Amino acid sequence: MSAMTDWLARASDERARAGVVRAADVRRNPQSRPGLLDLASNDYLGLADDPRVREAAVAAVGRFGTGARASRVVTGTTAGHAELEAELADLTGRPACLAFSSGYTANLGLLTALGDPGTLFVSDAHAHASLVDGARLAKSPVAICPHADLAALERLLREREQPRAVVVVESLYSVLGDAADLARTAALCAEHDALLVVDEAHGVGVAGAGRGAVHAAGLADAEHVVVTATLSKALGAQGGAVLGPAALRAHLVDTARTFLFDTALAPAAAAAAAQACRIVRREPERVAALHRVAGVIAEAAAIEHAPGAVQSLPVGDPRSAVDAAARLLDEGVVVGCFRPPSVPDGVSRLRLVARATLDPERAADAARQAAALAGVPA
Ligand SMILES: Cc1ncc(COP(=O)(O)O)c(C=O)c1O
Repeated sequence: MSAMTDWLARASDERARAGVVRAADVRRNPQSRPGLLDLASNDYLGLADDPRVREAAVAAVGRFGTGARASRVVTGTTAGHAELEAELADLTGRPACLAFSSGYTANLGLLTALGDPGTLFVSDAHAHASLVDGARLAKSPVAICPHADLAALERLLREREQPRAVVVVESLYSVLGDAADLARTAALCAEHDALLVVDEAHGVGVAGAGRGAVHAAGLADAEHVVVTATLSKALGAQGGAVLGPAALRAHLVDTARTFLFDTALAPAAAAAAAQACRIVRREPERVAALHRVAGVIAEAAAIEHAPGAVQSLPVGDPRSAVDAAARLLDEGVVVGCFRPPSVPDGVSRLRLVARATLDPERAADAARQAAALAGVPA
């Protein structure tokens, strides 16, 4: 056995012992299994299936083909990319937008392009892996701030040695589903001359009538606030974006490595997301329907109603979470199962995700079943 094969076998055994083995399993895919109730995917507004969004993608394939063929700065920029950036800026009320091939690469590109030894990154302890990786890859010192602890944030900013600081938070956190206090965080950042990066992966299309939590907090015009977003959740497509001042956009075009050295976002995804932005603006009732379903799920599962689409049901240890998710799948319900290292506080959970197009009664039945399997008295 080679040294690497031996190492892989030991790592695999350790994962099995810890109950954190994963599978990319087609049986969990609702589009491959008609009848499966989907309480796991991130298509919060049901737009991945909307005929207008599908048609926009098909038309873009007809015009541009299936792939973008090159980076945005070589030949990959199409009229569709400019249209998408204008629609996203319009929806969120931000001055400028740059699209990336995913939310992950948007976060990596932004943080690495902002980092240097004179800039302290202060990252919330519950920040998504893409933000953690971006901060790690940036040539900046990094401080991890206890989750949502504004007093600790104030101290870190006040006592820093670096002239510049970047504070990194999510507007709606992806695993626990809780919301950041953006107004107070932005005020602290302004007071201490820090830039605030808000990942709105779970906020765009969900918070503030769909225009995002930054817009809802009255911060769309704030020059010291930068938004990142994904196109792959409420917008039903694929891709990511950074939204902020025009000078930042220009900086990213010149320096963000995941923009420069990555093939442009596929034209079909750009067109689908642009169409989704128009629908979100024109049909706020979809966002209201999403929140109604989220409330029904939380009530049926007897858990606190989180402000976004994700309703989080604590289970405890990873094995019980896996067992509960497997039993639900046998019953025809797919839920998210989050275990270490995907949970920031070590507590494994079932993640029950609302969608605007779900039948509330079916969602409530499934949520009650999930709570019973997780041992929560409903
Ligand atoms: C908070 C957060 N940021 C970024 C991402 C990455 O987005 P994408 O899936 O578009 O790469 C995700 C997606 O899982 C997320 O939850």
